[in-house]
Amino acid sequence: MTAILETTWLSVCPLDVLPSEHGVAALLPDGSQVAVFRTHDDRLFALDNVDPRSGAGVLARGIVGDRAGDPVVSSPMHKQVYCLATGRCLDDPVVSVRTHPVRVVAGTIQVGCP
Ligand code: FES
Repeated sequence: MTAILETTWLSVCPLDVLPSEHGVAALLPDGSQVAVFRTHDDRLFALDNVDPRSGAGVLARGIVGDRAGDPVVSSPMHKQVYCLATGRCLDDPVVSVRTHPVRVVAGTIQVGCP
């Protein structure tokens, strides 16, 4: 038997309050923190907000950019760079953060919660 998992969508903020190349943090119902990023070409990504190297909820305040064409954020704590598409740490292969589904509905950014 296959279980169908339904995604619950949590509204984070209006799209137009998140400037490009910035992030915003939000609390998910399970108590974890998510960071939503808008890239210069208007794509949205969502990662765990907690930097696994420091344990601090800071990734939303990192610098958004790209490395070799991949959109990335660099942690304000130790400057490790995380791929926005995969959550992989590009500076330390044993570290990664979870990614989350993200969408815009009627001008509002929403993050999918399992
Ligand atoms: S898409 Fe290549 S490492 Fe993220």
